Amino acid sequence: MNDHVLSLSGITKTYNAGLPGQVDVLRGVDLDLKRGEVVALVAPSGAGKSTLLHIAGMLDTPDAGNVTLNGQNMTGQSDRLRTLARRADVGFIYQFHHLLPEFSAIENIALPQLAAGISKADAEARALSLLEKVGVADRATHRPAELSGGEQQRVAFCRALANAPALLLADEPTGNLDPATSDQVFDALMSLVRDTGLSALIATHNFDLAARMDRTVRLDAGHLAALS
Ligand SMILES: Nc1ncnc2c1ncn2[C@@H]1O[C@H](COP(=O)(O)OP(=O)(O)OP(=O)(O)O)[C@@H](O)[C@H]1O
Ligand SMILES: [Mg+2]
Repeated sequence: MNDHVLSLSGITKTYNAGLPGQVDVLRGVDLDLKRGEVVALVAPSGAGKSTLLHIAGMLDTPDAGNVTLNGQNMTGQSDRLRTLARRADVGFIYQFHHLLPEFSAIENIALPQLAAGISKADAEARALSLLEKVGVADRATHRPAELSGGEQQRVAFCRALANAPALLLADEPTGNLDPATSDQVFDALMSLVRDTGLSALIATHNFDLAARMDRTVRLDAGHLAALS
């Protein structure tokens, strides 16, 4: 089996093609993410980090190029197959937690597992063990509004990993938090990622956080380059 969890080749994306506001965001992006590798994605605001993450996670389609996920080329596949592959293989984390307000922390993490056919007892047991790993097991029955910003984000990490994806895509996962909290919450994320051995592509504006990942790539003028 292919050793790359994610391969991007020749990815291009233009918004408003042919119009006065045309934006050539991605002009041929190549990236191989090895199994277990954690890569930082850095770029100035507006350079296309979110666009690239959405394309990698099949929430958006490129104009050209190939996305290969777990050895399966996604180009030209049906929406249904892309959705199934995304559900099975990809976890997303955003700057804002997007937890469901009516449900407790443990329920928010159990829900995607129930949707995948796991029993309630097993889903809640796994949810609790994930919460323990990020240090918020004692807040398991709290709703999002009853959690601090850092705790909300830790719960969102657990939800993203609930169905044991092969790939984590994170878009400024600690961007909403103050620097000290951001550091601690990022530690929790990294230990969760290392523990499960999954691959991750994590967009960040924070070079200290980027330095704690395996390597850093920079998006510049629509191309991705290694940052040394
Ligand atoms: N749906 C869209 N239609 C038109 N232009 C868009 C659309 N989405 C994004 N853009 C443009 O594409 C460029 C890249 O946007 P993107 O959100 O990927 O940047 P980013 O690197 O994530 O920025 P930030 O660090 O501020 O989150 C921006 O110039 C943006 O204005
Ligand atoms: Mg963005």
